[in-house]
Amino acid sequence: MNCVNVAIVGCTGMVGRTFIKVLEERNFPVNEIYFFASNRSAGRTITFKGNDYIVEELNESSFDRKINIALFSAGGEVSKKYAPIAVRKGCIVVDNSSEWRMDKNVPLVVPEVNPEDIKWHKGIIANPNCSTIQSVVPLKPLHDAFKIKRVVYSTYQAVSGTGMAGVQDLENGISGLPPKKYPHPIAFNCLPHIDVFMEDGYTKEEIKMINETRKILNDQSLKITATTVRVPVRNGHSVSINIEFENSFELEKVFEVLRNHPGIIVQDDVKNNIYPMPIYASGTDEVYVGRIRRDFSVENGINIWVVADNIRKGAATNAVQIAELLIKE
Ligand code: A2P
Repeated sequence: MNCVNVAIVGCTGMVGRTFIKVLEERNFPVNEIYFFASNRSAGRTITFKGNDYIVEELNESSFDRKINIALFSAGGEVSKKYAPIAVRKGCIVVDNSSEWRMDKNVPLVVPEVNPEDIKWHKGIIANPNCSTIQSVVPLKPLHDAFKIKRVVYSTYQAVSGTGMAGVQDLENGISGLPPKKYPHPIAFNCLPHIDVFMEDGYTKEEIKMINETRKILNDQSLKITATTVRVPVRNGHSVSINIEFENSFELEKVFEVLRNHPGIIVQDDVKNNIYPMPIYASGTDEVYVGRIRRDFSVENGINIWVVADNIRKGAATNAVQIAELLIKE
């Protein structure tokens, strides 16, 4: 595999730091590597594969050198401004923000679902929303096998999805301190409120899950609805997915289809209390599926429970997998 020059934008953040860990773990073929953050972190030291690097302040000339791939996770505003600058300088951007995801010229990719979409990129490839990534991994083989008609998402999302500030609100809240990031206490509570509310009463997170699922599965006819909820879990999102199929199915076949798909681990042995849980998914790269059962209220329906590490598979690992696909190309 050819070695490439890599940049990490937002290297001091929760996802940025995990990019570094995942690149090291997967032995990503790095030649030169550059680390960017805001002026608050400029000058700090970051260690990568045993060598120390100085964090640079991101600016308009940051990409005036040979950088092949940049992994961005520094928020939408930074991606909006700097991803096009990086592309103009010949760099391919894998962007973790929501800024470019629904742009018609930008592929939205989960490597186990739609790897072919990276072929039509024009410099930016978007990494989907964390809850969407872990949901489409099992939906893809089920859609191929039984044709999905309708999906109902209900999420149970960890505080790490809000970065360090979310984790601090949970930890402070357990000690009785008031929240700083969330509008209400998250300790011992659930907030049916992720991202901002839209005119129609949905949150932006819910709309992201609906639109991004259709784009990744390349099927605008899918009927999807969602309720997204922040729960007092440190790391690891859970999603309850109710799925209605066009075609009839055997439950055994559903298990088989899920077991055979890359990236999925089926954990479903309820007699022995075995089902996916965020404390065990945290720190891993797989998507765990369990509680697989028929929905008796419709003709061809199932319920599944899907858990993954939102910072790894839901963000950093997925982005690094996209970068690996780019290198293979
Ligand atoms: P910094 O640590 O210097 O603020 P998180 O999502 O975990 O809060 O992390 C956000 C990441 O994005 C951090 O690395 C943060 O750097 C970086 N960041 C925020 N604003 C900017 C900016 N204007 N330019 C470059 N990096 C930024």
